[in-house]
Amino acid sequence: MQTLAQNLSSQGIEAPLSQLIHTLADTSKAISHAVRHGALAGVLGATEQENVQGETQKKLDVITNDMLKDALKADSTVRGLASEEEDYIVEVGQSGDFLVCFDPLDGSSNIDINSLVGTIFSVLPAPSGELSEKSFLQAGRNQVAAGYVLYGPSTMLALTTGKGVQLFTLNPDTNEYLLTCEAMSISKDTSEFAINMSNQRFWEAPMQTYISDLLLGKIGPREKSFNMRWIAAMVGDVHRVLSRGGLFTYPTDNKNPEKPYKLRLMYEANPMSFLVEQAGGKASTGYEAIMDIAPTDIHQRVAVILGSANEVDACLEYHSVDY
Ligand code: AHG
Ligand code: MN
Ligand code: MN
Ligand code: MN
Repeated sequence: MQTLAQNLSSQGIEAPLSQLIHTLADTSKAISHAVRHGALAGVLGATEQENVQGETQKKLDVITNDMLKDALKADSTVRGLASEEEDYIVEVGQSGDFLVCFDPLDGSSNIDINSLVGTIFSVLPAPSGELSEKSFLQAGRNQVAAGYVLYGPSTMLALTTGKGVQLFTLNPDTNEYLLTCEAMSISKDTSEFAINMSNQRFWEAPMQTYISDLLLGKIGPREKSFNMRWIAAMVGDVHRVLSRGGLFTYPTDNKNPEKPYKLRLMYEANPMSFLVEQAGGKASTGYEAIMDIAPTDIHQRVAVILGSANEVDACLEYHSVDY
């Protein structure tokens, strides 16, 4: 089995990007170690702080954010970073080639129940000149790499540099990532969907109708039965979609009119869309491809519909009709 280093070199990834991917991968090993020790390391539970997203931070949100921030600050290829857990962008060095956006701990409501969590990252080219938040506001199409790490029964790293999606599994005996799938591919069709059904009454008409039709099964217009899964960690749900197909959505809702979307464009939606498209799937807001959005705010949120191409298209048809 190829190591991560061997795989990056066989893909022809140049030294600066390879260095950055190793920094991210090495930090994820340390995060995996901290997550595994759980209550023994005193890392469970919440802090008393709130982050810029208006969420109470879990201890692990803060610990993992600090671990990634420290590692990226020490990497000469990094010009700046932005995180779900940081109020503002952080300038790192004057000459680095890359900007890194990350969600240090995805699925933080799962921490205290010892369930799936992950880390998501997105790498953008650093523009020349002064660094500001504007430097980060690039469409997802500009990403040079993206990936996630899933801290599950095994720790896995899914990575794209625009040449398909490679999956690595962390060997706990040697603490090394080994290539276990060289090209992840999402089936075009599926009969599985993922949505937080408890928000049903808050969705807009297209999503209401689409999901109702799925639930009707064989007697409905889709004429087949659908199964549902919800891990409450985007990393876990997207990993399932990459592994066996499916449609994942966190749609627009009017539960809190000031916050109609949940997932963050720069830390969650863009990197996952890059992976999904590279695996042959689709990723949309319902009205446009996620990676075509011109961002206006580093913490911007968006509606997300992604997964098996034909099923995403089926869902988009409901969005093209007037209600
Ligand atoms: P985070 O833990 O980074 O704040 O992200 C949580 C996100 C995402 O991972 C997941 O799909 C969604 O929130 C779960 O939302 P619900 O709690 O509404 O199910
Ligand atoms: Mn959060
Ligand atoms: Mn998240
Ligand atoms: Mn998070």
